[in-house]
Amino acid sequence: MNERDSENIAALFVNAGHSLSDTEASADVIVLNTCSVREAAEQKALGKAGHLCARKGADGFPIVGITGCMAQNLGAEILRRVPEVDFILGTRKSADIVSHVEAVAKRRAEGQRAAKVKRRSKRYPVDTSHADIDISDDEFSHNAVKHHLDISGRVCAYVSIMQGCAMNCSYCIVPQVRGPERSRPIEDIVDEVKLLAERGVKEVTLLGQVVNAYGRGSIPYENGVSPFVRLLRRINDVEGISRIRFVSPHPSYFRQDLINAYGELEKLCEYVHLPLQSGSDRILKAMNRPYRADKFMRIADSLRAVKPNMSISTDIIVGYPGETDEDFEMTKSLFERAGFDMAYIFKYSPRPGTKSAQLADDVAEEVKESRNQALLELLAKQSQAYNDRFVGKTVEVLVEDAAKRGEALKGFTREHRKVVLTGGKVGFCNVHIERATVTTLEGRAV
Ligand code: 5AD
Ligand code: SF4
Repeated sequence: MNERDSENIAALFVNAGHSLSDTEASADVIVLNTCSVREAAEQKALGKAGHLCARKGADGFPIVGITGCMAQNLGAEILRRVPEVDFILGTRKSADIVSHVEAVAKRRAEGQRAAKVKRRSKRYPVDTSHADIDISDDEFSHNAVKHHLDISGRVCAYVSIMQGCAMNCSYCIVPQVRGPERSRPIEDIVDEVKLLAERGVKEVTLLGQVVNAYGRGSIPYENGVSPFVRLLRRINDVEGISRIRFVSPHPSYFRQDLINAYGELEKLCEYVHLPLQSGSDRILKAMNRPYRADKFMRIADSLRAVKPNMSISTDIIVGYPGETDEDFEMTKSLFERAGFDMAYIFKYSPRPGTKSAQLADDVAEEVKESRNQALLELLAKQSQAYNDRFVGKTVEVLVEDAAKRGEALKGFTREHRKVVLTGGKVGFCNVHIERATVTTLEGRAV
């Protein structure tokens, strides 16, 4: 989602007549679009902001601004750590970014800078006189994330269909920083997808915190079909688009109409990222995740009944307060039964302002680490087994660009397995798979 928001910001600058710089060193303005979901993400962003500000010249350039969740979460407090930050815009304010930057540039041209202080302790009020700060709400901001860079040769794009989150997972800072859930109108999204298709995009990934709750409270069901599935059907009809993905759905809203959609919509890819968080019902309840492990398994089984080669990935948190060895064993066992081929495993990080931050962070760091490692090992085994099934087969790959190493191209199968190939070109290619590692399939275009 941050990647999508960043592209939107970049496109706003381009639309206003500015140009994107290839390197940090040559930029007049640097925007750090930040994450708050774990503490490490915030620390990293603050460190980076400090380095960037240290490079400012006597004229105050480059201008350094912070947007996104950390901007929303910390606001002016950021200036205690990095006093020379020029602007701070919250998650619902990035649509106004160009005018903020132009205002700051004018003030720098007039010689106004941050006072020369290194860091300010909490005993002093923070000096905000030089900075432009706006972290207020905007109830229409979800409609504003619709600008794309016109990148030639681009075949995949993200489309933000909603903003905010109405869930209340005990550990999660997102509802606090991204505000209430709001969905864009179906027609606006379809128009955006059509425009992308005209520019050569073949695959769209729809984005939302709980993407399958799209439209709740604002868009009606139609003959028992949820607004989200209605939207999927509409996008399935867009000429030029060949693949549809979405991220992330929530198990509680994964209903039969969505499962059926995998059988009905030929463009919907055989891949879903479905966050589990924990395989223990006791921990799920403590996390305020309103489903049980067996419901999760039922969804996985139903999806595989419709699409036998369905690839399922997930998010897991290890070391939630009070997580016992027994709870963790349940997570491990469900991890195996659900046969995840990809997973993001996170060590629990208490976030200020969340419910669980009031609980003792009582799982020792070594225990979190060993649970993390145990799941990573399991993941490697399962992912290798899944990838091995492709060896010797010819599969459709949407080739995006050059892989990092060497000159080979890189793309993805419909199941979202990464393929590095020799021969071929950007766009759809049939690729004969010759080798499989845990993370990558290797083959040649045929
Ligand atoms: N600590 C660790 N992981 C977290 N996530 C969200 N909040 C926290 C936290 N406080 C993880 C969840 C979520 C993913 C995006 O980040 O697994 O699905
Ligand atoms: Fe956070 Fe839960 Fe909302 Fe996901 S559904 S963004 S984990 S509160």
